[in-house]
Amino acid sequence: MKTLTVSLPGRSYEIQIARGLLDRAGAACRAVLPRADKLFVVTDSNVGPLYGARLERSLAAAGFSAAIHTVPAGESAKCADRLARLWEEMMAFGLTRADAVVALGGGVVGDLAGFAAATILRGVDFIQIPTTLLSQVDSSVGGKVAIDLDHGKNLAGAFWQPRLVLMDPDTLDTLSDATFADGMAEVLKYGCIFDRAFFAFLAQRPNRARLMEEIEYILYQCCDLKRKVVEEDERDTGRRMLLNFGHTLGHAYELAGHYETWTHGQAVAAGMVRAAGLGEKLGLTPAGTAEAIAGALTPLGLPTAISCTAEEYAAAIGLDKKGAGAEISLILLEELGRAVPRRMSKQTLLEELV
Ligand code: GLY
Repeated sequence: MKTLTVSLPGRSYEIQIARGLLDRAGAACRAVLPRADKLFVVTDSNVGPLYGARLERSLAAAGFSAAIHTVPAGESAKCADRLARLWEEMMAFGLTRADAVVALGGGVVGDLAGFAAATILRGVDFIQIPTTLLSQVDSSVGGKVAIDLDHGKNLAGAFWQPRLVLMDPDTLDTLSDATFADGMAEVLKYGCIFDRAFFAFLAQRPNRARLMEEIEYILYQCCDLKRKVVEEDERDTGRRMLLNFGHTLGHAYELAGHYETWTHGQAVAAGMVRAAGLGEKLGLTPAGTAEAIAGALTPLGLPTAISCTAEEYAAAIGLDKKGAGAEISLILLEELGRAVPRRMSKQTLLEELV
């Protein structure tokens, strides 16, 4: 088993990575929750039927009384109505402040369950068991939890660090190739922004089978890179923003596809190539960087360019007709493996993009 500790004042926690860990989840939870009785498990209609019973058995063997609450799979579950229903179910279950909430699933489940944990009874312990590549390398670590509002994604939320993160790479076996590739966009992002050698390691393994041979190392490496940045900037006011590489332009592509045509990972993939190309045009990024990133994305079936109108770019960068908030901090690459924020006028950025 590989383990990492995210060190934060008063709320440090371990990330454990091991094949088969799901069956040992009960003992791992018991080690951090010695006095808890009840665990309220949130999962979704895809993951629950695959792994819910195994988790429940393991929790019961460790002396927990677990209730499994299944939400419909998909982003629409991350809403205020679902959250309110979870709160009521938690109370009906008799959850107390000595107990905990467990998220079993991808990013939607983690965000929703985490926000429920942060708010019920003014905050109870929370355990993440992420089952997708995207949630294992990103959303389960770092404490960002949220729901979506009509005005946009993740607008109501909190920083609520988990007490423990358990990653079983075997759960990735049931992902579709497209969902696996989606997560790989974020995996490659870590190489682009923090670690050139890691990028090269990934690029040398251009298919799922080769990547899965090294998956424990890959998860460890991504979580270690994220751990460092979260420890430095938990509240996302500085260095943590480097994780947004590819995301601002990716947001434009998600908008262009009405959040249906392109998944988050696909949009981020094209956003990273575009941001690298922009950096090259501005003379900041060495020539050939965008091509190198595209070369790592293409074999995984990820797009390297997505068409987008000036209006969609303007909406994604927050450029309205009044020119509100005239500047933006865009994450660019000084070189492969080193990201930097670059402040620029939104108008200039738009002109560079279209
Ligand atoms: N997903 C970006 C962050 O955790 O800051």
